[in-house]
Amino acid sequence: MRSVSSLTRRDVLGMAAALLPVIACTPDVTTAAPSVIDAIPDDAVVITNDAVLVRVERIPALRPVDGAVVLLAARVILIRTGMETFRALSAECPHSGCGVSVIDKPRLICPCHGSEFDFRGDRLAGPAPTGLRVLRADFDAAAGVLQVARSSAPQLRPNSSRA
Ligand code: FES
Repeated sequence: MRSVSSLTRRDVLGMAAALLPVIACTPDVTTAAPSVIDAIPDDAVVITNDAVLVRVERIPALRPVDGAVVLLAARVILIRTGMETFRALSAECPHSGCGVSVIDKPRLICPCHGSEFDFRGDRLAGPAPTGLRVLRADFDAAAGVLQVARSSAPQLRPNSSRA
């Protein structure tokens, strides 16, 4: 599989057209906010080794600016920051690796030990030593497809460990 940065628009469109069943609901979602998890249609997300492709219009929670959703199977949190801009955060809690699966605007909460993060991924409270990793997210507005690089390096955030 090619890296995310080498994918062409044709690749993205082809993958979007062949969307596989979503794996967004994993067996360990009992601690997640059910309304958020249940709102993800089966044909909205494709998860590959390198990337997560999301048909944004298929996920009602992502339609408004500031809308957010947790894709637990991909371990990704998506937040709409503008009409054509999104932020993607790793949903892997930096404390012990649980899924940060609860959205309680404006906070993201890890249900395991209560770490809390803001919508930028910065740590607000709890035992997590740092904030959440920021993942590269590229939105193809014409196709309506958001492509998130699953393994992209974290961006530096000066206040990621604030208490
Ligand atoms: S694993 Fe998230 S707070 Fe402990």
